[in-house]
Amino acid sequence: SKGNHRHFMEKEIHEQPEVISHTLANYLDFSKGMIRAGAAPVDFSKVDRIAASACGTAYYAGLVGKYWFEHIARLPVDIDVASEFRYREMPLSKNSLALFVSQSGETADTLASLRYCKQQGLSIGTIVNVKESTMARESNTVFPTLAGPEVGVASTKAFTCQLSVLASLAVAAGKMRGTITDEEERRLVRELSEIPRYATQALKLEAQIEGISRELSQVKHVLYLGRGTSYPLALEGALKLKEISYIHAEGYAAGELKHGPIALIDESMPVIVIAPHDRWFEKTISNMQEAAARGGKIILITDEKGAAASTLKTWHTIVLPEMPEVITPIVYTLPIQMLAYHTAVFMGTDVDQPRNLAKSVTVE
Ligand code: M6R
Repeated sequence: SKGNHRHFMEKEIHEQPEVISHTLANYLDFSKGMIRAGAAPVDFSKVDRIAASACGTAYYAGLVGKYWFEHIARLPVDIDVASEFRYREMPLSKNSLALFVSQSGETADTLASLRYCKQQGLSIGTIVNVKESTMARESNTVFPTLAGPEVGVASTKAFTCQLSVLASLAVAAGKMRGTITDEEERRLVRELSEIPRYATQALKLEAQIEGISRELSQVKHVLYLGRGTSYPLALEGALKLKEISYIHAEGYAAGELKHGPIALIDESMPVIVIAPHDRWFEKTISNMQEAAARGGKIILITDEKGAAASTLKTWHTIVLPEMPEVITPIVYTLPIQMLAYHTAVFMGTDVDQPRNLAKSVTVE
């Protein structure tokens, strides 16, 4: 049931601190500050590449995972949407791990990609929420997300739990591959353990975000920008807004702005800039200034340090607490979800059952 929430989506957004905490506890031993023994039953020291695929929001989770695996474990990741992957006949090496991400475990294109990799003799790992699903059954290794049933068609808690698993696996892989020290493992585990606390703080921004959403519900188009791990979040933000509010939205890597989308910017275009004060911050902020110089109405999502460092007068600034870089993609997802949710509520759409969409896409 929805409890005292208006929609399942709202309930599922608010469940995140708890379900992320459950999911992380499956992979991390907080008291020892270590990856749980046996949590990642894959020998990542023998894996030389990850071939990943998924659809929609699960694909964006995989895209964040690519940044983590490559940075933390120095393990290259090829990732593609499953509808392309399945027909691409990509050459796969025997030492590749095939990795799939799916809430339902039934998505037709993802399942077909999994079967293709299996036929090629690869070991199959799947991050999946529904334990009894077809993908779970057909995988060599199942990495569960413990998000609980997700009812809203727009994926919310499944996404942040997928990210929690991916981050944990990247740390496990880094440990097995010797790219992080024991001390770095302890630090990363401690940082990941703090996600639920930061997620709870992010939820406290809801009243402000609802106010911004009221204004956003008046516009026709929205652009989302981000760099590094915030780039997939820009894509996810745009998907979330378009699927439930029907407002046209696009997500771009901030550096791509001047390669085309900047032509769209005028006084009627809100530009949502996702920019924690991380190693990409200065670059993203300079793209934000270019957008603002063309009249774009900037909504900056940043932290206290980022807000202080940026002198530009924005339309709105959403300020999160400062947090470790590795967890920003998970925590910054919450304001992005709330923005889409409240905008859709102002638009009066059917938030949990948006038009033309199904919760599980079992036909290609
Ligand atoms: O069940 P799956 O995770 O495999 O589903 C993948 C996509 O269909 C799904 O994430 C879709 O994009 C959602 N509507 C996004 O909110």
